[in-house]
Amino acid sequence: MVTVLVMIGAYLLGAVPFGILLTRMTGAGDLRTIGSGNIGATNVLRTGRKGLAAATLLLDAAKGAVAVLVAGAIDPVLMPVAGAAAFFGHCYPVWLRFRGGKGVATLLGIALALHWPTGLIFAAVWIAAMAATRYSSVGGIAAAIATPVSTAFFQRFDLVPLFLALALIVLWKHRGNLERLMDGTEPRIGRGAKGEG
Ligand code: G3P
Repeated sequence: MVTVLVMIGAYLLGAVPFGILLTRMTGAGDLRTIGSGNIGATNVLRTGRKGLAAATLLLDAAKGAVAVLVAGAIDPVLMPVAGAAAFFGHCYPVWLRFRGGKGVATLLGIALALHWPTGLIFAAVWIAAMAATRYSSVGGIAAAIATPVSTAFFQRFDLVPLFLALALIVLWKHRGNLERLMDGTEPRIGRGAKGEG
């Protein structure tokens, strides 16, 4: 029963669409009609509001971390399942007809709370890949793939299946970006996006 309640609570927390809420509250428009239509920080940046994008990034990461840490205070065994539920909530929120974000910022928060060295590696890979390519999607995909590799490297084999599954969902959610990268139409950071992500 506690497990089910923790999963529901984590899902609902993960399902809070901070990007949409912040852009609406500040009159920056409806994020779903801007750029890629995605609800994440990269698309908030396309509104030209850097502060809002940073706030979206922090809050989307925080909801993943908070879900894991609150579950840990109840029973540490529940931490991975709470992280997975929060991630699922972000990517498939019930109130957006299950059309949510791509999971990158929320995965960062989950990684920091579950295994902080993997969280730091995630952040380093994300920043390095974005700086090298100026594609946000490449940074997010590379960082997500780094999480099962990192947990295996640190011999946290209990966490490898979870991070492998979450990385695969990140890849799936970026299928539109991958198509655009292949046909050369993916916008670099600081430019508008075309199409649905
Ligand atoms: O985290 C999302 C990012 O990797 C891509 O966002 O809006 O360019 O599809 P977007």
